[in-house]
Amino acid sequence: MGFEIINKNCIDVIKHGSIQEKVDLTFLDPPFNQQKDYAHHDDNMDEAAYWEMMKKVCGYAFEISNKGAAVYFMQREKNAEFVLRTLRETGWSFQNMIIWKKKTSAVPVPNKYGKQYQMIAYATKGEKAKTFHRLRIDPKLPANYKTQRENGIFVTDVWDDIRELTSGYFAGNEAIRNDNGERFHKQQAPLELLLRIILSSTNVNDTVFDPFAGTGTTLVVAHQLQRKSIGIEIDPENAKCILERLTNIREADLIQKNFKDYTCTENLVEIWGDEFEVEKKKGESDLLLFDN
Ligand SMILES: C[S@@+](CC[C@H](N)C(=O)[O-])C[C@H]1O[C@@H](n2cnc3c(N)ncnc32)[C@H](O)[C@@H]1O
Repeated sequence: MGFEIINKNCIDVIKHGSIQEKVDLTFLDPPFNQQKDYAHHDDNMDEAAYWEMMKKVCGYAFEISNKGAAVYFMQREKNAEFVLRTLRETGWSFQNMIIWKKKTSAVPVPNKYGKQYQMIAYATKGEKAKTFHRLRIDPKLPANYKTQRENGIFVTDVWDDIRELTSGYFAGNEAIRNDNGERFHKQQAPLELLLRIILSSTNVNDTVFDPFAGTGTTLVVAHQLQRKSIGIEIDPENAKCILERLTNIREADLIQKNFKDYTCTENLVEIWGDEFEVEKKKGESDLLLFDN
């Protein structure tokens, strides 16, 4: 399935209105403005300037979206107020605040509760989603449940079954590493997170947009699910990583192993797409821009 990697500042892409395609899903995992070390981005912006930038991004995503398309905006919970306001002011209709509960890590904070989840605001262009597949999963039965479920349960707004890629041992093979064993990109999202989002909110042949693409997790999952994808990434090293990840899909990046997690879902084969077609199209690229 076609993908497009744009190695530019997304604000410049927005300024020039360069994206011609209409999109069905936008995933936003921007830098959180928390003084992290990004080679090509100042993660210590003035708060107002940061939210002004995010307003441009959300507004543009809205403009290029089909009616009923979805946006998923991931941020720190302390910014919930700004996220919701930015989405509202750019026209999006709020649907859910998803709690992505971390499995193996928490951030200890003095004088208040430690932080164990990431928030993801889900909104749509217009009140009604054009696509929303009610996925069913069958997580392990909690200790106090006696009766086995017959056909799993619907996914709710609390996602506690998706493991984050921590910096240590738990990140496993999925984490991309430099030769010295260090993580290539500390904010690499887990495939399973994008799998849930893309399966829930798109169909085969739809278009997925990620203006802060990082290592390209969104594109890697979209591609295998036969969705088109457009990723923007400012850092040329990351953009190269995305291309490499898509042209030589690593064993650890294959999503077929997760099919079993959703087998309680009605019409799963139709939602997931044809595996054989995906294999044939592995590595096919429509356009690549490396002009930083
Ligand atoms: C939190 S990371 C995204 C991680 C990604 N979800 C993944 O799975 O790898 C944010 C990314 O946005 C990029 N970025 C920052 N500012 C940008 C901008 N103005 N335009 C495009 N990319 C930008 C950073 O270089 C970084 O790779």
